[in-house]
Amino acid sequence: MKLKDTTAATSFNYAYLTGRIFKFIRPVLGRVILSIIVAIPVGLLDGVVAYALKPYMDEVLINKNMLLAALIPFGIVLFAGLQGVLRYLNEYLTNWTGQKVTNSVKIALFDKLVHMDPKFFDENSSGIILTRYLTDPDTASKGILDNLKAFMSAGFGAVALIGVMLYNSWKLALVGVIVLMIAFLPVALIRKRIKSASNKNMKIGGNITTNFNETYAGNKIMAAYNLSEYQEKKFIDQINAQFNVNMSLVKRAGWMSPIMYLIASVGIALVMAYGTHLVTSGAMTEGSLLSFVTSLLLLYKPVKTLGNTMTNLQTIFVAMGRTFELFDIYPELVDKKDAVEMTKVEHGIKFENVSFEYIEGTPVLKNINLDVAVGETLAIVGNSGGGKTTLANLLPRFYDVTSGAIKIDGSDIRDITVESLRNHISVVFQDNFLFSGTIRENLLMGNFSASEEDIKRVVEMAHLDEFLHDLPDGLDTEIGERGTTLSGGQRQRVAIARAMLRNAPIVILDEATSALDNKSEAVVQKALDNLIKDKTVFVIAHRLSTIKNADRIAVINEGELIETGTHDELMNMPNGKYKLLYEMQFASSEPQPV
Ligand SMILES: Nc1ncnc2c1ncn2[C@@H]1O[C@H](COP(=O)(O)OP(=O)(O)OP(=O)(O)O)[C@@H](O)[C@H]1O
Ligand SMILES: [Mg+2]
Repeated sequence: MKLKDTTAATSFNYAYLTGRIFKFIRPVLGRVILSIIVAIPVGLLDGVVAYALKPYMDEVLINKNMLLAALIPFGIVLFAGLQGVLRYLNEYLTNWTGQKVTNSVKIALFDKLVHMDPKFFDENSSGIILTRYLTDPDTASKGILDNLKAFMSAGFGAVALIGVMLYNSWKLALVGVIVLMIAFLPVALIRKRIKSASNKNMKIGGNITTNFNETYAGNKIMAAYNLSEYQEKKFIDQINAQFNVNMSLVKRAGWMSPIMYLIASVGIALVMAYGTHLVTSGAMTEGSLLSFVTSLLLLYKPVKTLGNTMTNLQTIFVAMGRTFELFDIYPELVDKKDAVEMTKVEHGIKFENVSFEYIEGTPVLKNINLDVAVGETLAIVGNSGGGKTTLANLLPRFYDVTSGAIKIDGSDIRDITVESLRNHISVVFQDNFLFSGTIRENLLMGNFSASEEDIKRVVEMAHLDEFLHDLPDGLDTEIGERGTTLSGGQRQRVAIARAMLRNAPIVILDEATSALDNKSEAVVQKALDNLIKDKTVFVIAHRLSTIKNADRIAVINEGELIETGTHDELMNMPNGKYKLLYEMQFASSEPQPV
């Protein structure tokens, strides 16, 4: 399933999203609550200062109460000290819980990702995957707790200050609070803009990452074809697009804060005028007004924080919408409820009327019928793009057949657990992928329980030893991302050894088309011979020697199985496709007698 560009219908469904993230918050809920409780006094200090101004003015400055004069400043310092400790605690707890929650979301997402089927990876670029599975959950889960903390302490600050205002004059406070509420209205108006900008940004960010990945993986092509400027231009275009998206949001969202300030200043003006009236008419003391106005001014900061938090929360909820959408994507290819474990292969493999299409309406394989007995080596040949690799990919269920069935010993492979099925198949791909790490680690990926003896054996059989000798750390040599520090033929032999270590009864071998020099070719061939000994083998053959060594040959042309038989049988078919193919591709490469 292709991840859509701007998705997540749930972005504004705050209750739903909070419910979903709550599952990840629950395990650390105790600490989250503690951090919120700690945030309360942190927010309260401003209120205490403002509150203290009334007795300070009325009792100390006007009535000259010297005891209070000494106590008030002392109290404020004490409270600030306490607040410092709490602030530290709060900081610690918020980070701890934020990272824990983020990590568990990421782990859960990675778990989803590694269980996706190949089709999912065909359809989605690496950059988009990286952004959606790594960046979004960061924004979503860490952001929600960070902002919850900011929201709490600003919220409590505001509540305390409003409390002080109410205490001094409820009438004035009413004016102030109503104006404040009006000042918040614009936030609701721009959330759609924020969503669309955030989605666009995610997509551009993903494309930028893909660009980086391709620049890395394709660095030699880039050098060979002088593509540096081409790649650079692509990057600059992407960066500019990102700039435009961000600026269009700033253009629309940037006036929010000034408007809020303007509305708030109207409130202050009203309060001042009305307050002066209340004091001169004797309804309010000077201290009260001082305390009130201070509260109102101090209210600016938490209100501004609340405003920012509200805007941030929009972004966070949009990222959350995108994140939790991923949890609802399931691989199409899953075990049936009553799937059985496969334990051995006794008789053979049968393709029954197998048709397959990657894209609906574009058949790649058409009605293939094929029987392969245990122990048989079947060579698959045919035109490039004809469907050979595809045919082989159906057996380990990288994809499921569109119609028809593949059966092993009579049971449909869709009735077998995917894991046990794949445990019985070793695959050597056309483009051998090695992981970063050592050669030994790469070999062990074939079978983690292999012993030192097993490794020694496959090293010998795959003819790895002849180049391992030259490596300073032998098997423990680091081979770089994708195994870049090895030669093509060496990579191939490591892949063969990895497949050997798996020692599965069925072997799928997609021969590399890239030509090796004669000597390497001969070594690789020997390695392959060792791999397929006593196994049931599907070999997509590009080398004449492989074809001749096979028990039988299947010719796939444009998705259809057109001929099967031994080399001699097929060569004797008048107007046979194989004969034609042989004469075009292989005859000239056959070693000439000297
Ligand atoms: N992941 C994919 N998504 C969509 N189409 C694909 C995918 N992989 C292959 N195809 C298409 O399916 C057809 C068969 O491809 P396949 O790789 O099976 O050919 P092949 O016979 O192995 O060719 P070659 O000898 O060049 O390796 C091609 O037309 C190809 O474009
Ligand atoms: Mg192929």
